[in-house]
Amino acid sequence: MPLPDDAKVVALANDLLAIFDQIFGLHPGYRAAHAKGIMLKGTFKPSPQAVKLSRAEHFSRELPVFVRFSNSTGLPQLPDNDPAANPRGFALRFFLAEHRHTDIVGHSIDSFPNRDGAEFLDFLKASIDSQSGALDKFIAAHPATESFIKAPKPTPASFATEKYFAVLAFKFINAQGAEQYGRFRILPESEEYLSQEEAAKKDQDFLLAEILERLKDKPVRFKLMVQLAQEGDITNDATVRWPEDRPLVELGAIELTEPVEDNSAKQQQIIFDPIPRIDGLEASDDPLFELRAAIYLLSGRRRRAAAPVG
Ligand code: HEM
Repeated sequence: MPLPDDAKVVALANDLLAIFDQIFGLHPGYRAAHAKGIMLKGTFKPSPQAVKLSRAEHFSRELPVFVRFSNSTGLPQLPDNDPAANPRGFALRFFLAEHRHTDIVGHSIDSFPNRDGAEFLDFLKASIDSQSGALDKFIAAHPATESFIKAPKPTPASFATEKYFAVLAFKFINAQGAEQYGRFRILPESEEYLSQEEAAKKDQDFLLAEILERLKDKPVRFKLMVQLAQEGDITNDATVRWPEDRPLVELGAIELTEPVEDNSAKQQQIIFDPIPRIDGLEASDDPLFELRAAIYLLSGRRRRAAAPVG
């Protein structure tokens, strides 16, 4: 996973990382965002439809996977029942062969507040400066930011009862060369959320404890789905959603069976990549892709270089 060639993208990624540090403080060895999490392992089994959409190799054979569930924010001690811990994160790694993998990174809301990294930086700067009215001004000028902020983000009863979205659009290319844009969704067997009162009664690590308890009983399962774009749908702007009547196709089943051993160390080491970098599945030209790839790598290198945590 290389840094992008474009020096402007790397500079913007560094500026964003500095703002995250300013907002959440420095927590060496942890992620600058989605700092608190747990990583599970299991398998992905593609469905027969997957290969019709994409020739990417993870859609034609069963593979081992890791899934890292996380809370929002760069605060590694943030209580799981704090409303700021929503949206939750879901980072999925398919192990293709030794040293070869491809990832999907999503969160539990089907939108993003900003069109590109520069706008996101302005939003974060305005949030820090909330006394001056800068945030209100920013929100008034950016309806997508307002709808992201206002969208309900309930606390899930479990990481296993939440749904997740990769938000950005990808290009699927099949063996015949046919191209189709789509957006990934990861759906649980059943959705379940807590009321604010129920969440308030939970303890600060309840989601981490719950998922480990649940695994003792049976595997945690999700379906990997894709929402298909129609001709004319915008594919390079994460703030624009597609109509809900677009077809959903099942790409396969994720089955998680146990926590990854040496969990904290493995979380500290792994760097997820929002760009698939695999034949048959491409990032769209949404500017968030390159920027996120840069920031996850910069933040990840810093995390790896820190003393071991946990
Ligand atoms: C400008 C846009 C974005 C910026 C600047 C940003 C920033 C970050 C940063 C700094 C990290 C920590 C990286 C690390 O240390 O490994 C992170 C992780 C993460 N982000 Fe984003 N993010 C953006 C957009 C998104 C979007 C659109 C999604 C959901 C689709 C998302 C979901 C996640 C998740 C799930 C993680 C944790 C990954 C893991 O478990 O390693 N982010 N993000």
